[in-house]
Amino acid sequence: MRNGVLAVTRDGTVVEVNAEAHRIFQLKRTAKVVGRPFTEVLAKHPDIIRVLHSAFELSHLPNRAELRLRSTGKVIGYTLSHVKNDRGKSEGVVIFFKDLTKVEQLEERERLRDRLVALGEMAAAIAHEVKNPLAGIEVMAGVLKRQVAGSPDAQSILTDIINEAKMANQIVHEALEFVRPIRLQVEYTAIADVINDSVSLAESKMPRRDINLQLHVDAGLPPIQGDHHQLCQLFTNLLINAFEALEGKGAVEITAREGVTEEEGHVPGEPSAPVRTVVIDIADDGPGVPGDLRDRIFNAFFTTKDTGTRDMGGGLGLGLAISAGIVRDFGGTLTGANGPDGGAVFTVEIPAAEAGEAECPMPHLT
Ligand SMILES: Nc1ncnc2c1ncn2[C@@H]1O[C@H](COP(=O)(O)OP(=O)(O)O)[C@@H](O)[C@H]1O
Ligand SMILES: [Mg+2]
Repeated sequence: MRNGVLAVTRDGTVVEVNAEAHRIFQLKRTAKVVGRPFTEVLAKHPDIIRVLHSAFELSHLPNRAELRLRSTGKVIGYTLSHVKNDRGKSEGVVIFFKDLTKVEQLEERERLRDRLVALGEMAAAIAHEVKNPLAGIEVMAGVLKRQVAGSPDAQSILTDIINEAKMANQIVHEALEFVRPIRLQVEYTAIADVINDSVSLAESKMPRRDINLQLHVDAGLPPIQGDHHQLCQLFTNLLINAFEALEGKGAVEITAREGVTEEEGHVPGEPSAPVRTVVIDIADDGPGVPGDLRDRIFNAFFTTKDTGTRDMGGGLGLGLAISAGIVRDFGGTLTGANGPDGGAVFTVEIPAAEAGEAECPMPHLT
């Protein structure tokens, strides 16, 4: 049962409690709960004690209320119900509840997405307006450059103007990518396809030259719930970073395998339900990320690359920020570390899609 159930008699003794209730209230699985006063069992959750106390006093109980447990920060939705005897007299109270923390987080993400959509639309409008005059500057400087073919000084200034206009255009382009309205097309996605497409994309954006690329994708990986296009963008960003770090010489290794993580919010010290994941490492044998920068590389606009040399791969510092956002959208994590031999390793871990994942609705009681 996906819902927590806890039943208490009139005198306050717990008579029934299920596994989900154990999990949500973080009660040790081995702890004796049935037969003890609920005030003792739930001592860590005064909010619930208050709800149960009031249930005995009210004749009309709330149906579908919500509450945030101050103890754990979890949000639960609950329904209270009297248990009546043959004569219609209340003998106790049952509380049915459901962990809504995930739902809350989804709503929060939804709100954030709305804001990003608005921001993205504004950025797109500005970008559109700025791009035209920039193109104009570039073209006209080119025309002028041909007209002053005899003056090396003027030639060099005009070349600078053209390069600056190109750079401004690139900044607009990348900034737009960062705030672009996220329209996820979530579907069952095979990670092997994503990796193959990302390799082609990265190579088309940046010549690999003498970099040796190796792929180790385990056969039979479970699919993930993701958006193919966005996942490609993520791996392309990581690959381009690796290519840039190697400056045309070295090795990049991509490994994809199945993994497991602990379920969120399980009771500490208790075995937790493992969650199947797909883990992808992108490792290079370049200089790695200096230790003092490791916290900052995921920040938007953080870069160690010279933005004046964009044509040679200088960056805006948005690659990892965008990538981390994409991974988060699919419930995964992106981490960076240095490998044993010094190069950088970026690891993406995304939960595998569960077959027939179905939510059990709250029981509707009166
Ligand atoms: N594979 C890598 N090896 C070494 N440093 C890296 C690697 N990937 C990223 N970095 C560091 O992280 C910074 C931020 O990366 P990113 O967000 O993609 O921005 P950009 O590539 O535009 O600089 C880079 O400037 C670089 O210092
Ligand atoms: Mg980058």
